[in-house]
Amino acid sequence: MRVLVLGGHGFAGRSVVTALRAAGHDVTPASRRDGLDLTSLDQTLAWLTAQKPEVVVNCAALVGSLNFVTSLAAEVVDTNLRMLTNLYRALAERLPTAVLVQPVANCAFPGELTLYREQDLWSGPIHRSVLSYGATRRMMTVLAECYAMQHGLRTITLYTPNMYGPFDSPDPNKAHALNALCARVVKAHAEHADITAWGTGAPVREWLYAGDFARVIAAVLAQLPDKRWDTPFNIGQKAGLSIAALLELVIAATGYAGAVQWDRDKPDGAPRKVMDDVLFRQRLPDFAFTPLADGIAATVVWYREIYPY
Ligand SMILES: NC(=O)c1ccc[n+]([C@@H]2O[C@H](COP(=O)([O-])OP(=O)(O)OC[C@H]3O[C@@H](n4cnc5c(N)ncnc54)[C@H](OP(=O)(O)O)[C@@H]3O)[C@@H](O)[C@H]2O)c1
Repeated sequence: MRVLVLGGHGFAGRSVVTALRAAGHDVTPASRRDGLDLTSLDQTLAWLTAQKPEVVVNCAALVGSLNFVTSLAAEVVDTNLRMLTNLYRALAERLPTAVLVQPVANCAFPGELTLYREQDLWSGPIHRSVLSYGATRRMMTVLAECYAMQHGLRTITLYTPNMYGPFDSPDPNKAHALNALCARVVKAHAEHADITAWGTGAPVREWLYAGDFARVIAAVLAQLPDKRWDTPFNIGQKAGLSIAALLELVIAATGYAGAVQWDRDKPDGAPRKVMDDVLFRQRLPDFAFTPLADGIAATVVWYREIYPY
């Protein structure tokens, strides 16, 4: 299939491009560095017209750490909404038969939930710390439904937990949580420094290896002719690990032997947050996730390759 991967040079997008090429698809990555700024409707129309993809995978977003999405909250909400409305409008105008596949980050779920079930997306407010970004992720589901209603446009929406893996930035303002931890431990190991971790280490979170995210997209495309999947579903394992246990895995992967201090004055957040896996198991029953220790080992290799940072 001809596939356009928006944000195809980013953290998630890069793995998607690799996996879809390996599966034999004709894949073009596109973002501002290629001359496609999705905040420009004209550029979005021109790219879709020139490329005529059968499938668009949307991994483009203005996103970063909690600090990034709060300190730049207005810019985050404004830019992401414009990117999304332009994309939908351009698809409806130029390529209404294309299928859009999009990850929706799980920060779109209500902040109070500890188990994310697909039907609960709108059952409460988004946590204020991720309001700007999470609200634009919820809007992805609104756009998907409204463009299906009026234009028959097909979207496959995948609710996606925190990802980790190679190719993320080492910049603490951009890197995602587990990657930031790997980056810090690799750096502390190389510089013989100590590590201070936030909170008690007790909270449990679910993690998705970016390579697995990419393989899920490949598995979805493989079933496209038969399956419609026009209701969103989790990429879910209903399994998580405490921050302390994660840190142990990172330490084992790096060989770090320095001290670890826990700053217990910093807040822990909810004790447990995991994705329900019922729908995922129905839709992709044979999918096998990468064990965390293996994914972390690959992530540590990546940070070693790009050190010093
Ligand atoms: N990382 C996670 O833990 C995680 C978890 C769940 C879901 N997701 C979802 O996965 C998607 C990708 O996230 P990511 O972590 O891969 O982010 P990322 O590494 O920051 O990549 C974002 C990509 O978007 C492109 N981009 C930004 N602004 C653009 C614009 N105006 N026009 C065109 N392209 C633009 C960037 O490339 P240029 O700078 O070249 O434009 C970059 O390649 C997002 O929807 C995110 O919510 C991520």
